[in-house]
Amino acid sequence: MKILIAASEAFPFCKTGGLGDVVGALSQMFSRLGDHEVVLFLPKYRNIGGGAFSLSAVGGNFLIPVAGKIETASMSRVQWGKVSVYFIENAKYFDRPGMYRTQYGDYKDNDERFIFFSRAVLEGAKFIGFKPDIIHCHDWQTALVPAYLKTLYRLDSFFVKTASVFTINNIAYQGMFAKKALIKAGFDWSDFMPDKLEFYGGMNFMKAGIVFSDIITAVSPTYSKEIQSYGEFGKGLEGVLKHRSKKLFGILNGIDEEIWDPASDTFIKRGYDVKTFAKGKASCKRALQTECLIEENKQLLLAGVVSRLDNQKGLDILCKIIPELVDKMQFIILGAGDEKIANALNKLAKTYPKRVFFKSGFDEALAHKIYAASDIFIMPSRFEPCGLSQMIAMLYGSLPIATKTGGLKDTVFYTGEPKSSNGFLIDAANEKSLRSALGKAVSLFKRKLLWNTMIKNAMNGDYSWDASAGKYLEIFKSVHKDRFKSLKF
Ligand code: ADP
Ligand code: GLC
Repeated sequence: MKILIAASEAFPFCKTGGLGDVVGALSQMFSRLGDHEVVLFLPKYRNIGGGAFSLSAVGGNFLIPVAGKIETASMSRVQWGKVSVYFIENAKYFDRPGMYRTQYGDYKDNDERFIFFSRAVLEGAKFIGFKPDIIHCHDWQTALVPAYLKTLYRLDSFFVKTASVFTINNIAYQGMFAKKALIKAGFDWSDFMPDKLEFYGGMNFMKAGIVFSDIITAVSPTYSKEIQSYGEFGKGLEGVLKHRSKKLFGILNGIDEEIWDPASDTFIKRGYDVKTFAKGKASCKRALQTECLIEENKQLLLAGVVSRLDNQKGLDILCKIIPELVDKMQFIILGAGDEKIANALNKLAKTYPKRVFFKSGFDEALAHKIYAASDIFIMPSRFEPCGLSQMIAMLYGSLPIATKTGGLKDTVFYTGEPKSSNGFLIDAANEKSLRSALGKAVSLFKRKLLWNTMIKNAMNGDYSWDASAGKYLEIFKSVHKDRFKSLKF
């Protein structure tokens, strides 16, 4: 099959969170599993891959109408294994310090930026002569692609055999804009209907993806049920999803085990595997305690956090109970995002310098060190579509303490018996549940045999993409077949 992936981020080129990991890993998996031709389209942000890739210009340019103006798109490309990666260039839209926002908030023209990108994906495919069987889009930033295919490009012979699959990585970010975004995007007022693009008087990009794609996927089986069933998860789109229930599938994310492997990880002090974790983790813990200038003490339970700072992640709940826990344990926290949460964490680190370390910002190297050094990994998420961090933590022998929701529920198991558990689950993201789970961890940590059994369970889990990438490909094959059958020749 010819597979075109359109997304707003992909590791190792650009990443703000799990979406980047997923898009990067899936592109590679699709290109390796079978005889598929895979191209990946990304915006050409400033500082792609930290300058580690040499991109070559694709000659020429093409024009994209946005908001009554004509914008110019050009492209550069790099061959990444078997995947051809194309970067859509337009300095006005993408040559900026951040991908989506500044520290003060989202870029005001995010609607135009991703209208431009989505349309440039379709025009770019034509420009390079790549007729996709499948276009796989992710989240609101590329959600207009399926809508274009079913409206403005419906009669375009170039895409006559193209089917679209839309993956919801996080429905909390919907790309909601005033109704004039409809006109900026070039749609017709007749599509401004509640069963199409209209959403409470405005335009909702995520809804466009859900309504117009041939197949919708969500990034874990539990999340795919939650978002259709409850407003707190579906965030207003639960009805639309329920309506398309038959076309909605939950496919669990995996992690790239080449990047995340404690045995070969060059960021960490000492590599280890499931047989040698005791020595390896002890050495990584000591090194990180020293680096972060917190008390060097192997008896203290060390909790790690690597996270976006966002209401979703429940770290405000953790902040509230840290003071009552610092005599029993330590915390090393890395996070970027919300200023209020960052301030609270900074204050805690200043008050308890030997027990709490906080670094604000995005730091790939420190993230690896935290997964390796920590004994537990805290994720009190209010909702979690899938979550990759808990899987990375488990691979590194750090036991997750996570809310029983979304992908956390699908990957973390706590039965009350260490021999059949790989972490700790809390029923709800609140202080009481988190406090009680942390108490359990503190006391179990002293019973080394039981603790190590849980570490082995965690490290032995299968978090690979093998099964899930195969499920995507099966869906691609069947939707492509249906699309082909529906054509009247
Ligand atoms: P989300 O996508 O909601 O942010 P996930 O758990 O799916 O959460 O994925 C988070 C990914 O981003 C993981 O690879 C994690 O290690 C990484 N990450 C998150 N915050 C940071 C940070 N501040 N510095 C480095 N890596 C981070
Ligand atoms: C989102 C979700 C996270 C998920 C990631 C990749 O950012 O918050 O739970 O793992 O996307 O799908």
